[in-house]
Amino acid sequence: MAPRKIIIDTDPGQDDAVAILLALASPDELDVLGITAVAGNVPLALTAKNARIVCELAGKPDVKVFAGCDAPLTRKLVTAEHVHGKTGLDGPQLPVPKMALQTQHAVDFIIETIRAEPAGSVTLCPLGPLTNIATALQRAPDIAPKIAEIVLMGGAYFEVGNITPAAEFNIYVDPEAADIVFKSGIPITVLPLDVTHKVLTTRPRIQAFRDMGSEAGRMVAEWTDFFERFDKEKYGSEGAPLHDPCVIAWLLQPDLFKGRQINVEIETTSELTLGMTVADWWGVTDRAANALFIGDVDADGFFALLTERIRRL
Ligand code: RIB
Ligand code: CA
Repeated sequence: MAPRKIIIDTDPGQDDAVAILLALASPDELDVLGITAVAGNVPLALTAKNARIVCELAGKPDVKVFAGCDAPLTRKLVTAEHVHGKTGLDGPQLPVPKMALQTQHAVDFIIETIRAEPAGSVTLCPLGPLTNIATALQRAPDIAPKIAEIVLMGGAYFEVGNITPAAEFNIYVDPEAADIVFKSGIPITVLPLDVTHKVLTTRPRIQAFRDMGSEAGRMVAEWTDFFERFDKEKYGSEGAPLHDPCVIAWLLQPDLFKGRQINVEIETTSELTLGMTVADWWGVTDRAANALFIGDVDADGFFALLTERIRRL
């Protein structure tokens, strides 16, 4: 079967970096048409630089990386250096990327690619705020029916918020963008905190990366070492949730996950619950189902897949 064509939209972020490595280590299944950077965990200049660092770490300097939106549609950018560090990829010493950034704007790349590829052949994989995706849909409404699926990391229901009591970071940063995406009619699969908080980087799991003896394994171990301190302190958990790699793992091995087709709407007005994904998990409304909301995962199976693939790099 031909590899699935995807565009990864990302705000690296240590967990984004692991997700990109997982995708680039799986060329038989995934054809990464391009990586589009968005402002999120850290400002755009850093996310666009970090995406290139990761491509070079994967030995794939030919992957096209584009810079996209540097701020949410209408709001001021909120970043997460408190989680990811000043560079967005704190932990190991970082190389300076040699590969160039594409000159085309990420949103134009997304629009052009969806228009050029056969309808229904490209999946969008947002790992950060949805600003680039929403801007592309606003600028070119004709692409919506041509997008095969959007598989995104974002939102929360049972797990509630991680940046406010009610909201998950990716949705909170640009709730208007999320509202546009969730109302687009495009098939959406959501990997929320409900599932990502079940794939924690325990000591043995991080050791498995270190034991690979490769540069990729070492970097992943040092990124997760750094990244986990925030969640361990806040939740008292035994490790960090590997949020974004869940998106790629879903594409590679969907049977590792379980979810429900439900209605999900985004709070965009209340200051108290801004960015909340109001997920009708129990079907108490008659609102139409618009998303496959993932709630469970085989964590050991997830890490077996992730470790096996990172070991290939
Ligand atoms: O809330 C977790 C999400 O926010 C992840 O995508 C992480 O990288 C940050 O972007
Ligand atoms: Ca991210």
